[in-house]
Amino acid sequence: MRLVIRDNVDQVSEWTAKYITRRIKDFNPGPDKYFTLGLPTGSTSLGTYKKLIEFIQQGKLSFKYVKTFNMDEYVAIQRDHPGSSHSFMWHNFFKHIDIDPKNAHILDGNATDLIKECNDYEKKITDAGGIELFVGGIAPDGHIGFNEPGSSLASRTRIKILSKDLSIADTSVFEGNCPKQALTVGIQTVMDAREVMILITGAHKAYALHKVIEEGVNHMWTVSAFQQHPQTIFICDEDATLELKVKTVKYFKGLMERYNQLIEEKCEY
Ligand code: GLP
Repeated sequence: MRLVIRDNVDQVSEWTAKYITRRIKDFNPGPDKYFTLGLPTGSTSLGTYKKLIEFIQQGKLSFKYVKTFNMDEYVAIQRDHPGSSHSFMWHNFFKHIDIDPKNAHILDGNATDLIKECNDYEKKITDAGGIELFVGGIAPDGHIGFNEPGSSLASRTRIKILSKDLSIADTSVFEGNCPKQALTVGIQTVMDAREVMILITGAHKAYALHKVIEEGVNHMWTVSAFQQHPQTIFICDEDATLELKVKTVKYFKGLMERYNQLIEEKCEY
């Protein structure tokens, strides 16, 4: 496991965008070889999308041969509702870049057969050759996608009933009319990716970061599952380290020079 610690949110976004860029460029995608990228929604990812848009618009990166798969979508919410993942991804990322819309996959929460939609999504990922890099966010209770506390660590894409906590958290965008269900990739779906990258920023997520990296694997903190993934990068800002042991922070800061080579070698910005 790697833990990249940056000073603030902007630096986390920049480092993450550079890392994604570097991975795509090194992969050297083309018409017969697409790079598959798993993507999150949520405010933490906004800065990364902004940076990626910048690189793409400056001609330093292209999503022409990239296929994306998003984590989750609410059930029975119109695509153009401001709270939907479709809306979030279109307005904050896809409409600004050169991705072919047919390569940008998001679960359809309005499908007539939701179970089939979930199973088909897993198949689409497999048919695309599996996910090369899955980028995710984390909620203060340590969940990813909609794999809330207690979710099976062996889970795959499925329907989830949302907890009261989560519905309350989303009250503003849904004006009190919060969705009760969502479709989400499972923990095992993310585990199957060749590499996993988790973004954690802010003091309100410090306890979650402590639970998921300093304590054992536990389905009550579902992101902790990625301790067992052979290629995981957690990237956080200083505020998110507040609950970590000084020893942990010092250890990983000592590796920053090496980690920075991961984004600097070969990449031209
Ligand atoms: C929701 C989403 C997650 C996201 C999390 C954190 O629960 N389903 O995928 O990681 O919120 O969101 P934010 O980045 O806004 O804190």
